[in-house]
Amino acid sequence: MSVLLTGASGFLGCRLLRELLARGEKVTVLGRGTPHELRTRVEAAVQWLATPLLDAHAMAAVRYVSGDLVQPGLGLDPQERARITEGLTTLWHCAALVVLEGDPAPLHHANVIGTRHVLELADDAPGARLLYVSTAYVAGKRSTGHIMEDDLQDTSGFQIPYEESNYTAERMVHAWAAGGHRDATVFRPSLLVTDRPAPQGLPGQPTDVLLRLMHQIMGNGPDAGAALPTQLHAPRPSAASLRYRMQGDPLGSLNMLQADYAAHAMVLAASQTAPAAGVRTMHVTHPHNVTFQTVAEALETRFPGLEVSMTPTLHRPTPLEKLAADFAANPLAYSTHRRTYDRTNLLGAVGTLPDPDLVDHAYLSRAFGRTPASAAAG
Ligand SMILES: NC(=O)c1ccc[n+]([C@@H]2O[C@H](COP(=O)([O-])OP(=O)(O)OC[C@H]3O[C@@H](n4cnc5c(N)ncnc54)[C@H](OP(=O)(O)O)[C@@H]3O)[C@@H](O)[C@H]2O)c1
Repeated sequence: MSVLLTGASGFLGCRLLRELLARGEKVTVLGRGTPHELRTRVEAAVQWLATPLLDAHAMAAVRYVSGDLVQPGLGLDPQERARITEGLTTLWHCAALVVLEGDPAPLHHANVIGTRHVLELADDAPGARLLYVSTAYVAGKRSTGHIMEDDLQDTSGFQIPYEESNYTAERMVHAWAAGGHRDATVFRPSLLVTDRPAPQGLPGQPTDVLLRLMHQIMGNGPDAGAALPTQLHAPRPSAASLRYRMQGDPLGSLNMLQADYAAHAMVLAASQTAPAAGVRTMHVTHPHNVTFQTVAEALETRFPGLEVSMTPTLHRPTPLEKLAADFAANPLAYSTHRRTYDRTNLLGAVGTLPDPDLVDHAYLSRAFGRTPASAAAG
């Protein structure tokens, strides 16, 4: 077996790599920087993880190759390309640009054109199955209802360009698999989280964005307010008592899944699914959503003095509430969501794997438990 993995230096990819190594796979990691730099980053990330257990020499089974999604041919020279594709059995494509704000062009380059480059590499490895990591957020603006794993539509539109880039890449994977009679699996994780936040310098989790925002609003980090609009530098309420109303549905909820569980389920599902031409899509999601109220209450334990409430309409917002709402418009747009995700294909593939533990107030309080300094700098 010969496995190629992109994105191993990231939050999810380092966990996938650890799972693959625990199964005794030999893995080629493709990523940015020199092979030495890549090795240093990936080893630090993988070795910091506690599970699954690895034997002392497990990391010796990893080969490091410089490659960039946005470069034609991934920036590989012909010899390296031939070496990678020769005998390749599995190609995990987990690298992506994961940003909720900003210019759509870099997202298109990394996530759409980058996936095109990965599919071209797979063309050179006819014996390899493709395992593509997308996101449950390809469901876009559909805020209610039960999303099926086979659903892939753009009729509701997208909340942010990141979602659309993953949707377009999924479409490309479908066309590629149909055109070449190839085997492809699309994994769609929901929002991944860990209650063992990594120290600065190792891959952080997406909720760190929320923590940074709160540090800036509360003004208790070393760079407090640095990234906020200048108006927010005006007198802020004392950190000892900040009532913060967030516009959103008080019954709104989102799906959060433990990142370690997600990686384990994905590698297990891949190992237990026989290759077959066509695309199988699996929601790598939690069976239960978390209410925004629970998230808000966990934030309150993290920031003593903070009181967060949700309200469908923000009557007479304070200047801070208005500016913070504008500043965090994209993340806050999710606060109206209640949608749930079907997991039939995932459950069929992971067999008897027990459901994950609850992501509840206690879990999220630990997840948000970084020191103010590290989260603000993070
Ligand atoms: N985390 C979540 O909650 C979540 C939820 C659903 C889906 N996903 C999906 O899971 C995948 C991984 O997400 P993540 O959370 O692990 O993100 P992440 O921590 O930001 O890691 C992204 C990875 O992609 C690599 N990458 C980015 N641009 C690249 C480029 N131009 N060339 C080569 N490599 C590049 C990064 O390499 P560098 O180290 O060089 O930057 C890093 O290894 C993505 O497809 C994401 O959409 C994540």
